[in-house]
Amino acid sequence: MFTQKLLLPAFAVITAVAAQSICSQTATATINSQADAAAYTSCSSVAGSILIGSGATGDITLDGPSTIGGDLTVNNATGVTSFSSSTIGQIKGTFHMEDLTLLSSLKMSMLTAVKAISFVSLPNLGSLTFPATVTSATSITVSNTFLSTLAGLNVTSVTVLQVDNNPHLTEFTSNIGNISSAAVFNANGADLAISFPLLTWAANMTFRDVGSVSLPSLQVINGSLGFYESSVESISASNLTSVGNFATGVGSLAFVANTALTNISMNALKSVGGADQVANNTLLNAISFPALVDVGGAIDFSGNFTTPNLPALGNVKGGFNVESKQSIDCTKFKAEASASGVIQGKFFCQGNLDSVSSLGTGTTTGTSASSTSSKGAAASFGVNEAAAGLSVIGGLLQMLL
Ligand SMILES: *[C@@H]1O[C@H](CO)[C@@H](O)[C@H](O)[C@H]1NC(C)=O
Ligand SMILES: *[C@@H]1O[C@H](CO)[C@@H](O)[C@H](O)[C@H]1NC(C)=O
Ligand SMILES: *[C@@H]1O[C@H](CO)[C@@H](O)[C@H](O)[C@H]1NC(C)=O
Ligand SMILES: *[C@@H]1O[C@H](CO)[C@@H](O)[C@H](O)[C@H]1NC(C)=O
Ligand SMILES: *[C@@H]1O[C@H](CO)[C@@H](O)[C@H](O)[C@H]1NC(C)=O
Ligand SMILES: *[C@@H]1O[C@H](CO)[C@@H](O)[C@H](O)[C@H]1NC(C)=O
Ligand SMILES: *[C@@H]1O[C@H](CO)[C@@H](O)[C@H](O)[C@H]1NC(C)=O
Ligand SMILES: *[C@@H]1O[C@H](CO)[C@@H](O)[C@H](O)[C@H]1NC(C)=O
Ligand SMILES: *[C@@H]1O[C@H](CO)[C@@H](O)[C@H](O)[C@H]1NC(C)=O
Repeated sequence: MFTQKLLLPAFAVITAVAAQSICSQTATATINSQADAAAYTSCSSVAGSILIGSGATGDITLDGPSTIGGDLTVNNATGVTSFSSSTIGQIKGTFHMEDLTLLSSLKMSMLTAVKAISFVSLPNLGSLTFPATVTSATSITVSNTFLSTLAGLNVTSVTVLQVDNNPHLTEFTSNIGNISSAAVFNANGADLAISFPLLTWAANMTFRDVGSVSLPSLQVINGSLGFYESSVESISASNLTSVGNFATGVGSLAFVANTALTNISMNALKSVGGADQVANNTLLNAISFPALVDVGGAIDFSGNFTTPNLPALGNVKGGFNVESKQSIDCTKFKAEASASGVIQGKFFCQGNLDSVSSLGTGTTTGTSASSTSSKGAAASFGVNEAAAGLSVIGGLLQMLL
């Protein structure tokens, strides 16, 4: 008793000093156990980054600080089953959770603001317990998780939104108003239903393997917009007026290999910077862009459709490749390519073909077409930019995966 009374104040001073230094240290601190985590209880904020290392196991609770000045990383801690904090409201760096095989609970009671979220390879995490709701994050990556919902994230603007390989995610609704770099959806739950009721502009958007997409407020895509290998039946963006930049020829619009697609409705679309490509949409019987005037690259439609409805064409800087298995009338387009100069690049338009192909993917082999028109190099159709646009997105995907 007596000894303890004497020792207590000295001990308290030592912990206070220790707490002071772990709270203010700017170098990354590593936590390998709940005991290490408990040392932060007296910190009101932590200046640097915190790493929960691979040695940590079981339930880890990091209570004390309301702000983390750097990153909060839980990486490769394959024995961690839950992670929580009832105090952290802001992470000024990245909230990075990766390779956490057993993690089944992530509870951040106060969290509202994070610079970036990167949740990767979390095969047991079914939901996010973010009751305060994260309303600010400039970049969000959710990849290879068990998540069936992203409820808990409700941001109004992001630079990057990457959601891929989450096989249980079947619904995604977001109040995001703009996406300043790119949104990519790929290989999530079957028929993922995506809804962006308030999105007005996005730099680039790529949808792969999705079930439906709702973009009622979308007005501008500054870069490229593409729908690939999806089960969407209808794609509509009735307020969309431009994709890409006609002046610079950058930014393409693509609909490729959507085997259930029967209806594309972009009735206000006036301008496409790069190429406008429609290919391998088996059930798409009609193509109509009633307001389309300017195309900086090529128009490239192939499939089984009636004569495309393009009544407003004014300036197609690239080529024109339209190939259909059905009978189509190319008269108007032929005049636009020769007499009026509306279509400036290479021209190929043919119906009743047995097999069709798009630019850069081979040559036509239409048996019913006795003319042996060759499309030549894709470049002369002005399709190079489309390929370049795709590789930029592909590069981004690789970077983030
Ligand atoms: C993950 O942790 C294991 C075991 O601690 C280690 O051998 C491995 O190198 C770590 N991997 C990474 C990517 O940190
Ligand atoms: C998301 O935030 C908006 C305000 O930006 C709010 O109106 C909406 O109710 C929130 N939704 C959810 C699901 O929290
Ligand atoms: C981006 O969207 C947010 C939320 O809708 C809005 O407040 C902001 O003004 C937008 N920024 C731009 C540049 O459009
Ligand atoms: C995209 O276009 C919108 C509307 O014209 C504009 O407000 C926004 O600044 C542009 N964003 C980028 C990244 O160029
Ligand atoms: C679409 O645009 C019109 C005209 O600018 C506007 O009145 C309407 O509110 C917009 N719709 C949506 C869902 O943003
Ligand atoms: C997205 O679009 C912009 C044009 O607004 C472009 O500059 C940028 O390179 C594109 N790609 C990505 C991955 O953001
Ligand atoms: C195509 O979709 C638009 C918008 O959803 C709808 O108004 C239109 O009736 C549809 N057209 C056909 C032929 O189904
Ligand atoms: C369309 O499908 C064919 C056959 O699978 C393929 O060779 C071609 O590259 C596809 N076109 C596009 C634009 O992906
Ligand atoms: C092309 O579409 C027509 C009309 O829908 C249909 O009758 C025909 O079977 C289709 N041809 C092929 C090869 O899919």
